Amino acid sequence: MVVAQITDLHLTAEGSLAEGRIDTAAGLSHCVAQINRLDPRPGALMLTGDLANLGRAEEYQRLQRLLAPLAMPIFVIPGNHDDRSILRTAFDNHGYLPRQGSFLHYAVNDFPLRLIALDTVVPNQGYGALCAERLDWIESRLSEARAQPTLIFMHHPPFATGIAHMDALRLIEGADAFGAIVARHAQIKLIACGHVHRTIVTEFHGKPIVVCPSTAHQIVLNLQPDGPAEFDFEPPGFMLHVWDGARVVTHTISVGEFDGPYAFED
Ligand SMILES: [Fe+2]
Ligand SMILES: [Fe+2]
Repeated sequence: MVVAQITDLHLTAEGSLAEGRIDTAAGLSHCVAQINRLDPRPGALMLTGDLANLGRAEEYQRLQRLLAPLAMPIFVIPGNHDDRSILRTAFDNHGYLPRQGSFLHYAVNDFPLRLIALDTVVPNQGYGALCAERLDWIESRLSEARAQPTLIFMHHPPFATGIAHMDALRLIEGADAFGAIVARHAQIKLIACGHVHRTIVTEFHGKPIVVCPSTAHQIVLNLQPDGPAEFDFEPPGFMLHVWDGARVVTHTISVGEFDGPYAFED
């Protein structure tokens, strides 16, 4: 079972660039083409938020068009750049998205690896939260299937990365309570996040946790406490989470055209 993750597409409307210079549609298109060349093909694709740059309907419509070449089941969760209700309306053909309720969280039970997708969005804020209602929902989903290996997806990381301006916008509310839930559930094999536009790996209450790079722009690695908020054009990327029956093995793939492959000479 291979689950691909792409994140922080920041897709703009036709004819416009993000931050005046980022062709986010080109980034996504190259990534989609690269996923389609994978053999074996991933069995599912999860998009972990900041799908649209301004949360507008035309951006989500463009997103659906750009994802159309992909044959595997596609799942989405919102990030801080998304608008929940516009996203829900634009993706009304995505039957797993809850039609009612305040949050776009859900569990996917169709695969050997159970997928739980969280909604950490606080409307009109860059930071994230898991309020009491969302924490209750997570606890219930995990408690109903304790023996089922589980991969959790969420936009905002619940830990500090060392990149100060992004840490100010991490999962601020509910991180400790979420950690206590995570610690209680041995079936969680991996937590996979977005939002920070870089590849990051650590542990969270005894579980591995990763941040996936963006398909568009990356956040500059600056570990100074007063480092400025800056992006650059380091190679975009995506992740493959491979469930081998015992553990999830995560690979990061750079998006782009690269020389090779070459056979080793000896
Ligand atoms: Fe983002
Ligand atoms: Fe974000």
